Order: sequence, then structure tokens, then C-alpha cells
Amino acid sequence: MSFQHSGPLCGAVRVPGDKSISHRALMLSALAVGESVVEGLLEGEDVLATAAAMRAMGAHIERRADGRWHIQGVGVGGLTQPAAPVEMGNSGTSTRLLMGLVASHPISVTFTGDASLSGRPMGRVIDPLTLMGADISASPGGRLPLTVRGTRPAAPIRYTLPMASAQVKSAILLAGLNTPGTTQVIEPVPTRDHSERMLQGFGAELTVETDAGGTRTISVKGGAELRAQHITVPGDPSSAAFLVVAGLIVPGSAVTVENIGINPTRAGLFGILQAMGADLTMTNRRTVGGEPVADIVVRHSPLTGIAVPEAVAPSMIDEYPVLFVAAALAGGRTVMRGLDELRVKESDRIAVMARGLRAIGARVEELPDGLIVDGTGGAALAGGATIAAELDHRIAMSFTVAGLVADAPVTIDDVAPVATSFPNFFDLIGRLRATA
Ligand code: S3P
Repeated sequence: MSFQHSGPLCGAVRVPGDKSISHRALMLSALAVGESVVEGLLEGEDVLATAAAMRAMGAHIERRADGRWHIQGVGVGGLTQPAAPVEMGNSGTSTRLLMGLVASHPISVTFTGDASLSGRPMGRVIDPLTLMGADISASPGGRLPLTVRGTRPAAPIRYTLPMASAQVKSAILLAGLNTPGTTQVIEPVPTRDHSERMLQGFGAELTVETDAGGTRTISVKGGAELRAQHITVPGDPSSAAFLVVAGLIVPGSAVTVENIGINPTRAGLFGILQAMGADLTMTNRRTVGGEPVADIVVRHSPLTGIAVPEAVAPSMIDEYPVLFVAAALAGGRTVMRGLDELRVKESDRIAVMARGLRAIGARVEELPDGLIVDGTGGAALAGGATIAAELDHRIAMSFTVAGLVADAPVTIDDVAPVATSFPNFFDLIGRLRATA
């Protein structure tokens, strides 16, 4: 698919439900007692992989014609042996969180995935889950395919996260649900807290203490019953990010993205864009499903490069690829560091973005832990190159946005991975262009 500059983007749109919250809504509903209902679930491939796995382990999950999902849970401790390996596709979140769930059940589950997922490190969850008593045999380098042989009773641990990872935190907390005693995760750098919020909403005995230095200790008591819930999933800020940046960098644009989750552990990008000079406002603030939500209104703005503080990285970790694109259009230099985790996402997002941006005329310098971008000051990029998206949805969407400000077409070799997180992305881009 190819994209090239063709005028402003205008209008108001909604994006699909939050991916992180959708995974957790399915998993906790599948573990609860009774029937949960989930509205606004992201129906992307990653979340559907979680639904299929929870079904294979005994939950009854049904999508009704009105778009609501009805889930009959099995109760904490009630997951059953799946008949076959569970296929995780491209989804790291499904894999790591489900490994945690399986670890404290007496079942044995083999996880498989696509080429991208099979290259990603799982040692970060294998280590703590092994301490809890699970027996995990992985492919070389701690990768997929791998098999988790769970144990009951598992042993509670007190574990300090060696990297900022909500997936590792969540895997341990989920394992702790069916572990006697109190399981604790210590998080020196805060990461997205959807698991904590939703576990409390389902009635788990979970507490969070934050010390003077900002370190969080999350404690979950095993054995508590989860009660079925009605959950409304807000729009995904990580999906909104592509439309927001497009609205800011395409001349003449005025875009509203409605109903977006602005949980502070997720919304770092919006503040950084404001610090770069973006005309970006949040209106209609409210709470949906225990999460803060707003409509985000942007107008095309001249942006100025800044040094992005490393401390905000976890609150916008999935947004860096599209921030790199915004930086490529800004005036002056944007420095983004402390991003080692970006190298182990669906692709090595620092290397793949640096290569692609250079190919379309941006000035970038790759660092081991980040990127320095010298922007055009608003002038169009040259374009005229084909980008290898490396099975990474966010790479494909970032270069789509870059294409909207390119003189010659930017071609993306494979846009199929966009369906993992944002199935109607190209429709929405088309709608915003058509209404301009
Ligand atoms: C996620 C956590 C983040 C993020 C991923 C989703 C989650 O990964 O990059 O897209 O839902 O917990 P890490 O926790 O590994 O940083």
C-alpha cells in the first residue's frame, strides 16, 4: 500500500477499544464466577488470540450481534487442559499474561506464535514463574515455541522487576491469583496499571503502595474469588496516537479523536506533543470502566524538537515510532533516549524506524538506546521508498502517517499486521481525508 501527500485531514472519529484493557477484560472475565459482559472490546487479531486461548482452557466466550461479548468464567483455579497448543499469532501480551495464568494451574500448555513473536524474549517471564514453581521448557534463547507446566500450589514470590514491563508485572500478578499467600511485585518505574485497576474491580485482594521515591509495591492475595463484571473498554490511546500525529503534521488538518483512554500510565505522548508546541486539547473528560477518558482535539501545528525526558518512556512506550515521525517534521532536534525496550517489541523499533525514515529523506541518528532526529521544520519528506514493516503493526501505521507528508509515495510492503491492533485504521485515514 502507498501513501503520499494529498491535502488535510478533517473530522471526528473513534478508534477501537484499548488492546491492553481488552486482553485483561477477557482473561479476568474468564476467571470470574458468573457471566461478564464486555462492551467496546478490540476485535483485533491479538485480542482474538486471547479469546481463543481462554476458550481452549474452558471459558465460554460469545460475541453477540450487538457487539457485546458475554463470558462465562471458570472461577480462579478452574482453567482446564487445552487439547492442542495455543496459537498466539503476533501477540506478546497474550503470551506473557497467559503464561502467568497457566503457571499456577495444574495444566501443561504449549504456546506458539508467528515469526515476530517467536523472536521475542520470554526469559523475563520464565524467570519469575519458575521461582513460583512452574516448569517451563523454551526454545533456545528463552523463545517460542515453549511449554509451561503449571503447578498447584504455586509458591508466592516477592519480585523486583528488572525492566519496566507491565507484561511481566501482570504475568506474576495473574499467577498470584491462584497461589496461596501474598504475591508481591516491586516496580521501580511505574508501568501501565490496567491489571491492578481491573483486578480490584473484579474483587481481587490487591493493594498498591508507593514509596517516596516512586517505587510501587503491588500485593495480591491468592485464593480470592473474582466476581463477574460489566466492562466498557475505552478507545486505545496507542491507536489514537497515529491519527493525532497525522492531524498535527499534515498542513490544514483539524482532527478530533473521541473517547480515548488517558490513564496517566499510558498518555505520555500527548503531553510531549504539547511540549513540542502541538495545538492539542483534551475535552469532555470523564471516567469509563474505571479508566479516565477524553476526546482529543488537534490542529496542524508547527512542532519544535525537544529532549524527551527518559522518565516518561514507559507511559508512551508504544508511541515512539509515530513520535519519531512527528520529530522528523519538527523544527530542530528531538532527542529520545532510554528506549532499550523498543528493541524487543514486535520488531527492533529503533533500527527499523531509523532505516525507514532515512530511506524517505529524514535525518536521524540511531543510538543504542534511542534516536536523535533533526526535523525538516515542517517541509515535506522526500518519500519515494518501500518500507519493510517487519510484521510490526506500529511500523506499518507510522510510515502510513509519514507518507501523508511525503512528496513521492511511501510504500509499505505488508500492511496485514495492522489488523492485530487497529483493524479499521486505513478506513479511518480514508474518512479523515475524504471529509477534508
Ligand atoms: C503491554 C505492555 C507493554 C506494551 C505492550 C502491551 C500490556 O509491553 O509495549 O504493547 O498490555 O501490558 P511491556 O510491558 O513489555 O513493556
